[in-house]
Amino acid sequence: MKKIYEGKARDIYEVENDLILVSTDRISVHIPLPYKVKYKGQVLNKMSEFWFNKFENTIPNHMITADTKSMPKYFQNEDFLNRCMLVKKLKMLPFECIVRGHITGTCWEKYIKGEDVCGIKLEKGLQQSQKLSYPIFTPTTKEPNGKDTNVTFEEFKKSIGLEFATKIRDKSIEIYLMAYDYLLSKGIILADTKMEFGIDEFDNLILGDELLTPDSSRFWLAKDFKLGKTQTNYDREELRNFVESRSMTDENISNIPKEIIFKVSQKYLDIYKMVTGHNIVC
Ligand SMILES: Nc1ncnc2c1ncn2[C@@H]1O[C@H](COP(=O)(O)OP(=O)(O)O)[C@@H](O)[C@H]1O
Ligand SMILES: [Mg+2]
Repeated sequence: MKKIYEGKARDIYEVENDLILVSTDRISVHIPLPYKVKYKGQVLNKMSEFWFNKFENTIPNHMITADTKSMPKYFQNEDFLNRCMLVKKLKMLPFECIVRGHITGTCWEKYIKGEDVCGIKLEKGLQQSQKLSYPIFTPTTKEPNGKDTNVTFEEFKKSIGLEFATKIRDKSIEIYLMAYDYLLSKGIILADTKMEFGIDEFDNLILGDELLTPDSSRFWLAKDFKLGKTQTNYDREELRNFVESRSMTDENISNIPKEIIFKVSQKYLDIYKMVTGHNIVC
């Protein structure tokens, strides 16, 4: 099999004119870490499949199947179980399409300095983590070195044209709002999320990459929400705190306690259950 790309989390294989995205258990916290978080890849892949199915009438997506039985023999074994998605190969647009419904992270940092976010002036008097009266679309460039830069809607439009730009913004917000309501009914606040779009051979706009996973979104437990504070993201927060509390020399990286990695793995399984109502079956 021809592996054509190794990303931060996924490996990509080419199969005739299509691609197979394989979600691995690799994890990064600012930098790639030399640890495998068991089940993470399976959770990410199956959760994307869940959402692509849910929103298939809202916007066409790249998924052909996540059933390895319909894939080449090479993928029909334990190592690939639940991790693969056969997708249409797209020409990806070089943007991360972010929708934010709560103010947090870099957006909050800019807000308290009085700066706008991607050209958007936010309402006055917001507190940290507060829900915005309407979600905002804050695209960034997707850079190979990971140093993505915010762009204004005008810049976004200039790069990809008015029609695609407007459609991407409106569809991204629509998906966010629907996912928000669904997740809230499961006790989860979807603070923000990132989508990636591409163009197929007929020039159609298609939703690609992963969708509404803990790697592309901030999920907060509604029961723990406290206005005016930073929230805990329900995924790798403990690992992030550990990494941020130490200067990451090689020695420190290889000394991350196993329990922390195990806990992160549990959280991925928990969130999958909360979102889909199912367990990952291995
Ligand atoms: N349908 C598709 N066609 C082509 N490329 C895709 C498609 N869906 C996702 N991609 C790209 O595949 C890569 C997925 O692997 P990932 O580990 O997320 O990589 P990265 O480190 O680049 O984010 C991303 O670069 C994403 O833009
Ligand atoms: Mg990615």
